[in-house]
Amino acid sequence: MSQEQWTAVDRYIEGLFVASDPVLDAALRASAEAGLPGIQVSAAQGKLLHILVRALRAQNILEIGTLGGYSTIWLGRALPPAGRLISLEVNPKHAEVARSNIARSGLAGSVEVRLGSALETLPQLLSEGRGPFDLVFIDADKPGYFDYFHWAMKLTRRGSVIIADNVVRKGGVADPQNRDENVLGIRRFNEAVKKESRVTATAIQTVGAKGYDGFLMAIVN
Ligand code: SAH
Ligand code: DHB
Ligand code: MG
Repeated sequence: MSQEQWTAVDRYIEGLFVASDPVLDAALRASAEAGLPGIQVSAAQGKLLHILVRALRAQNILEIGTLGGYSTIWLGRALPPAGRLISLEVNPKHAEVARSNIARSGLAGSVEVRLGSALETLPQLLSEGRGPFDLVFIDADKPGYFDYFHWAMKLTRRGSVIIADNVVRKGGVADPQNRDENVLGIRRFNEAVKKESRVTATAIQTVGAKGYDGFLMAIVN
């Protein structure tokens, strides 16, 4: 199995289920033109997030790691009219590109991109009484996931769902020799989720246009 095959199958899946969309296409183009790394979720993964928001009837979403707002738009479009999404981003250029992409999507009234390190903005959200969030999507720096999970637990309620991207890292998480700081960060996060009796969790490996990685999903008991 090769990356070319995974990419070809993702193109096949997109051909079936993900209609080409001018707003999402423009968001990807503007992000690439601004020099942002192409590490957003795939189209099929974005649509999975969208379906989950609708299935959960989530009204209040927290995203940690905005980049150009591609996953943000998939999530935000699944919200009901009074729904709200707040997305945390540390990089000013990423936040600026994301805000422009979100404005083009028509979601500016329901989506806030908050600039700052998530370790500073998460306590702010708590003190502002912004929770509880129905869905938290963790997708920022991997060494930070352990702390983001801690804050996610404070900002959710029974029945809330926490999803984390990149929990497999090309299989690196299962290789004890792998000392990469991102892999170590993800392992520390996965162990913390395992030890947290207030959640029920699993992880699913993913392959596709974005390589070999995985999603963790947890529900608050
Ligand atoms: N969710 C996006 C991809 C996010 S990429 C999508 O799928 O479309 C990860 C993002 O997290 C980057 O934009 C990076 O700048 C941001 N990030 C890294 N460290 C962060 C921190 N400490 N606080 C907030 N955001 C951070
Ligand atoms: C990478 C991929 C991601 O989805 C992410 O959020 C951060 C980094 C990567 O492949 O390096
Ligand atoms: Mg990711």
